[in-house]
Amino acid sequence: MLSPTLFPLFCALLLCLPVAVIFTVQRELTGFVSPQFGFRSLSVFSLYSRNVPESSSPAVRIRQPIPKDDEALLRLASRVNPNLPPGSTRKVAFMYLTTSPLPFAPLWEMYFSGSSKDLYNVYVHADPTGDYDPPFSGVFKNRVIHSKPSSRLSPTLAAAARRLIAHALLDDPLNYMFALISPSCVPIRSFGFAYKTLVSSRKSFIEILKDEPWKFDRWAARGEEAMLPEVALEEFRIGSQFWVLKRRHARVVARDRRIWAKFNQTCVREDTCYPEENYFPTLLNMRDPRGCVPATLTHVDWTINVDGHPRLYEADEVVPELIVRLRETRPRYGEDGINGSEWSAVERMDPFLFARKFSSDALEPLLDMARTVLFNDSAGAVL
Ligand SMILES: *[C@@H]1O[C@H](CO)[C@@H](O)[C@H](O)[C@H]1NC(C)=O
Ligand SMILES: *[C@@H]1O[C@H](CO)[C@@H](O)[C@H](O)[C@H]1NC(C)=O
Ligand SMILES: *[C@@H]1O[C@H](CO)[C@@H](O)[C@H](O)[C@H]1NC(C)=O
Repeated sequence: MLSPTLFPLFCALLLCLPVAVIFTVQRELTGFVSPQFGFRSLSVFSLYSRNVPESSSPAVRIRQPIPKDDEALLRLASRVNPNLPPGSTRKVAFMYLTTSPLPFAPLWEMYFSGSSKDLYNVYVHADPTGDYDPPFSGVFKNRVIHSKPSSRLSPTLAAAARRLIAHALLDDPLNYMFALISPSCVPIRSFGFAYKTLVSSRKSFIEILKDEPWKFDRWAARGEEAMLPEVALEEFRIGSQFWVLKRRHARVVARDRRIWAKFNQTCVREDTCYPEENYFPTLLNMRDPRGCVPATLTHVDWTINVDGHPRLYEADEVVPELIVRLRETRPRYGEDGINGSEWSAVERMDPFLFARKFSSDALEPLLDMARTVLFNDSAGAVL
């Protein structure tokens, strides 16, 4: 038994212990963080700091740097709380994956303007070998995460998306939906409309196609047996590179090492190698198909295919009628959802929120119709 005089001392020691541990850990982490590429790296507040109830003693706000090493980063991200604190306002993480300046930055700027900063976060993965002139500004300023080279026909694009997810998980415990956006992608609804659609969904939006004709070639791109035994051909799925994942699924991605190890292998056949279109649909279909609406909310036109690139809208094609037509199109739903799920994909009509690909010279016509059409949710009914 502790004597009455020693007891308070003992309590004080106990209280000090966690603080000492925190400072030690922080010193270790700070060791390998330095500014990169002239961008200021994102750092985060500790996972605990924002959730401390108001009434308790003043919270120690700890700036905890995000590791640069992918393994350490994903390990840390896999430990976040998959649920938002009860009663908190959900946020949407807009994650831009680019190798160039964002041609539609002024449009996105207009998109976010007027909406509360409490409803969204912006993250940018910018391949450090790219040239960023003009530099990221406005909502994109200081939002570049620690990025690595990322290019098509290799696993590096999917790796970049995983890096974005991990940063967004660690950065803000209120990030509820995680949307991957390409530089040639534009919003075709207002922020308010997109926000409401996304945060009111209990499911992710990710295209999950089962029986595409090129499935075998995609699966065998790393060698005939390379995906076995973890990913059998029957488990392999194909879908759009651009999805919106709910927090729970973002954490599934951060936690996954087993399936990623298969997709992170070098491709022996580059012409059929699109890990960024295969890894996410395959993983989520294996882990939680019922938690997914098997469709993408980013419109794309594949009726034209030039070297694996879909139709590119040039400036002179960008008229209000195009936007209205894109909005009225019904997404393509994966076969998996139709049978055995509590809803019928046949009856769904989820709205497209974004569209690609737009040529960078389409910025002017897009800005011209931003208020009247693009961000006007009632435009289109009568045009
Ligand atoms: C993915 O593969 C590359 C190249 O082999 C390797 O350097 C990297 O560490 C791997 N990444 C992960 C997260 O396993
Ligand atoms: C759903 O399942 C039934 C019975 O197994 C099958 O006949 C039907 O073709 C399936 N529908 C789709 C769209 O896969
Ligand atoms: C939005 O669209 C509706 C329907 O076309 C139109 O009547 C209205 O004027 C538009 N609003 C703006 C701000 O342009």
